[in-house]
Amino acid sequence: MLGVHLEYGDIVVRTVRLSDAAQLDRLLRDNRAWLQKWEATLPGTSGLPRTRDVIRTLRSMARDNQVVPCVIVVDSVLVGQITLSGMSYGSLASGAIGYWVSQDVAGRGIAPTAVAMLTDWSFTSGSLHRVEIAIRPENAASLRVVQKLGFRYEGLRRRYIHIDGDWRDHFTFAVTYDESVSGVLNKFLRGRVNERNADIPEVDRVAARTPLRLN
Ligand SMILES: CC(C)(COP(=O)(O)OP(=O)(O)OC[C@H]1O[C@@H](n2cnc3c(N)ncnc32)[C@H](O)[C@@H]1OP(=O)(O)O)[C@@H](O)C(=O)NCCC(=O)NCCS
Repeated sequence: MLGVHLEYGDIVVRTVRLSDAAQLDRLLRDNRAWLQKWEATLPGTSGLPRTRDVIRTLRSMARDNQVVPCVIVVDSVLVGQITLSGMSYGSLASGAIGYWVSQDVAGRGIAPTAVAMLTDWSFTSGSLHRVEIAIRPENAASLRVVQKLGFRYEGLRRRYIHIDGDWRDHFTFAVTYDESVSGVLNKFLRGRVNERNADIPEVDRVAARTPLRLN
């Protein structure tokens, strides 16, 4: 799906364009240290792919409804990315959202607003029933994002996603359409979120601190 454009106040979430490449490239370079620990990597490869190539691939996948690749723009300045991916339609009708914002705009509630908008879009226009977010146990800032939006804790997935050069454990959170008919953004803005939905049981916190035994 191309041509997504969502807005709340001065925050815009829209499909990434090839013309974003130079700006995005600069932002990624400037935020290298800020992002590296949380960035998806490809097993067996090193170095980063060219931003232009990534955008081309994402747009091609978007035409086949496999991904909804967006940038986050605030006051007309590109400040981050948000992507809906891993979509499965039919009986599962689920997808996963990933996101980041530039360090210099962190702490202004931009990511939760963007996630809320894209989640609502997934239900109303993206034919999905469920949206998932997977977060490394160490990522306190991102854990706050799902908490603020009332995503429901689902469990610990061991060595789930290849991040920063290795398979990393993730806590997963989800929300279904039935849980959010009044809108995730609407609930967030009106202070109607139950943050306890994202509570992580102590047993899973302990498990995440215990390395998985590998043969
Ligand atoms: C996680 C992230 C997207 C949050 O975005 P955001 O727009 O700053 O979200 P919020 O403004 O709601 O802040 C979330 C939490 O970040 C922390 N935070 C606030 N300002 C911060 C800053 N300048 N630096 C680091 N963390 C900060 C706070 O704990 C905040 O929670 P609080 O509002 O209860 O104080 C952002 O920190 C980021 O891009 N981090 C690097 C990439 C990443 O982790 N992506 C997610 C992978 S799952």
